Amino acid sequence: MTPMLTVENLSASYGVVRALNDISLEVNEGEMVALLGVNGAGKSTTLKSITGVLRPVKGSIKFLGQEIANGKPEATVKRGLSLVPEGREIFGTLTVEENLRLGAFVSYQRDRYKADLKEMFELFPILEERFTQPGGLLSGGEQQMLAIARALMAHPKLLMLDEPSLGLSPAMTDQIFELIKGLRDRGSTILLVEQNAERALGIVDRAYLLASGEVQYSGTAEEIRRQVDIASVYFGGDDAAPCEVTQ
Ligand SMILES: Nc1ncnc2c1ncn2[C@@H]1O[C@H](COP(=O)(O)OP(=O)(O)OP(=O)(O)O)[C@@H](O)[C@H]1O
Ligand SMILES: [Mg+2]
Repeated sequence: MTPMLTVENLSASYGVVRALNDISLEVNEGEMVALLGVNGAGKSTTLKSITGVLRPVKGSIKFLGQEIANGKPEATVKRGLSLVPEGREIFGTLTVEENLRLGAFVSYQRDRYKADLKEMFELFPILEERFTQPGGLLSGGEQQMLAIARALMAHPKLLMLDEPSLGLSPAMTDQIFELIKGLRDRGSTILLVEQNAERALGIVDRAYLLASGEVQYSGTAEEIRRQVDIASVYFGGDDAAPCEVTQ
């Protein structure tokens, strides 16, 4: 099977600060893959490089067989890549409807737009209730739903989510994770960035663990759990190391 997304030996910098060092990863069609790691590990930088917001220093990024490493960010959504960025970034002064319409603009067709809206209302009933209200009046979790719905309106082939549970209550986090699981069950291909490793490993097929801009571990959720003491990575100090490396 040819992977949908192939990142090979990617390095990226902010000025003199090297944020990614030679990372490689793949996402196959229909898969849900997590990118895990502590603050500053390079997760968002990886997504920024894939979407063309940040130009890599070196390496290759192939999407559906096409090299996109030096592509323009404007072309990203048209190619079929949608990112729900960290902090959601919905338009607070625009209504829920206007936010959704913006998501649909790349593929706008009246009939399809109506059908897509109906589908979004099924997935996220709150958006129908709040349809004419400014997005900024929604709660954090509701804004996250709006951001995900807006991305889905573009019919992405690959949906990338940057820390969708950040700042949400445990109950809202549960709801968002259920939703993401539902999207995957409907056949969406998803690259999920999360700090909440335990939760993410519960729903993904495979994961990559980034540390200081490098891929430290990769494997199925089961393999990652076996190789890495997740608790020590996230809460531990010096011994944030593997408990047992089996391969
Ligand atoms: N705009 C920027 N200018 C300079 N350095 C940056 C910039 N953005 C990120 N960095 C640095 O690059 C490294 C990787 O950052 P990145 O945002 O990718 O981490 P992250 O894994 O997404 O972390 P978090 O979980 O906190 O979002 C960090 O050392 C960070 O300080
Ligand atoms: Mg980040």
